[in-house]
Amino acid sequence: MKRQRLVVAGAGSTYTLGMIMSLIEEKEHFPLESIIFYDTDAVRQEKNARAAKVILHDKYPELKSFSWTTDKKEAFEQADFVFVQIRTGGLKMRELDEKIPLKHGVVGQETCGPGGMAYGLRSIGDMIDLVQDIRAHAPEAWILNYTNPAAIVAEALRREFPDDKKLLNICDMPAAIMVSYAKILGKEIWDLVPEYFGLNHFGWFTDIYDKEGNRLTDDIKRAITEDGFLPEDSEIVNDPSWIKTFKQVETMLNDFPEYLPNTYLQYYLYPSDMASKDDIDNTRARQVINGREKRVHELEDQLIADNTTANADLEVDIHGCYMIRVAASLAYNNRDTFIVITENNGIISNMPADAMVEVPALLTSDGPKPMAVGEIPRFYKGLMEGQLAFEQIVVDAYYEKNYNRLLQALTLNRTVVDTPTAQNILDDLIEANQGYWPELV
Ligand code: G6P
Ligand code: MN
Repeated sequence: MKRQRLVVAGAGSTYTLGMIMSLIEEKEHFPLESIIFYDTDAVRQEKNARAAKVILHDKYPELKSFSWTTDKKEAFEQADFVFVQIRTGGLKMRELDEKIPLKHGVVGQETCGPGGMAYGLRSIGDMIDLVQDIRAHAPEAWILNYTNPAAIVAEALRREFPDDKKLLNICDMPAAIMVSYAKILGKEIWDLVPEYFGLNHFGWFTDIYDKEGNRLTDDIKRAITEDGFLPEDSEIVNDPSWIKTFKQVETMLNDFPEYLPNTYLQYYLYPSDMASKDDIDNTRARQVINGREKRVHELEDQLIADNTTANADLEVDIHGCYMIRVAASLAYNNRDTFIVITENNGIISNMPADAMVEVPALLTSDGPKPMAVGEIPRFYKGLMEGQLAFEQIVVDAYYEKNYNRLLQALTLNRTVVDTPTAQNILDDLIEANQGYWPELV
């Protein structure tokens, strides 16, 4: 097996240490020759890097080299794979994305509704630059992108790099949900074969099978409606916010029993409820800053001070493992099935060809080979077309630098609907995002 040279771009993320643990866990499936961390924020990256160095020294002796840099050429020149996870504006701007809509009585969420739009308009430019930088030095590297808001970012990258066959956008939410299905069934996530369609953070599992072809969908639905639904992945299992989110799946399934919903549909199907129950002084970003970020930094301080993993509580989560198995399938032509974001081109036959959809695909060394979904029922098609129009208009607005396009987008979005409310939110977001968004006309 060829050993891979991996670059983690956006290595200052709070997820980076978890990714290192996953790379160690998965070293037989995706053996590495080297890891390079790349970030534009040297300070944030340095802490992750020094802690990662201690872990890698103890647990990955086969790794030939580990280093970190803010220099693009040094980072990308030798890369086989680049995992991209950037957050333009950081958690500080995430908090504003959540608080501003909430102030107007609308869902405050990093990837859904106005928050997702704001984050999208910040991310697009940086993502385009980053992909250009990677391609300048590593024309053949696989780029696995899980930068949010993935739907909007993927749409912009589709327009910007239409011929790039080695750029793949993915999200871990379907996998995190499948971990919970696996737990219900007494199986492992890798035993399950999903049938799924949607847009990113806007989709449904139509069926779940095991590798032998047994249909398990009804067992899962029965268990959820009888016993409820909980997160099981280690990163989120004890998190009250994620527990609440998974619980909402039971409500969604009772209201719409046909398919198993992605958790993110809660924001579109119950927008008033979601907005009214949120605490503007403690939105998700604040919880992450006071929770995960703090925990990770304390763990890192300990690792760096001890210079050993002996006393550290290190856990592996599926988020990273899923990405790594995706990478392995591309690298070694495993042809495993994963849910990825890809251009529709007839996969969902009654949705536009140019839509970036989220569907299962065989991942091969020649890229994803998505499986046909066929026609989807009118309810889902209606919901998806509204959301798709929102996402595409946001990207139009980015290129046209057009205020009215953004007003159209927000008014279309199920979390907003009301035009004056859309105007008020938009005006506040413009103010908050000065220097990040294009100047609008
Ligand atoms: C899931 C989604 C990601 C999102 C993350 C946020 O993993 O798929 O797109 O970034 O949740 O989680 P957090 O704990 O930061 O709210
Ligand atoms: Mn996601």
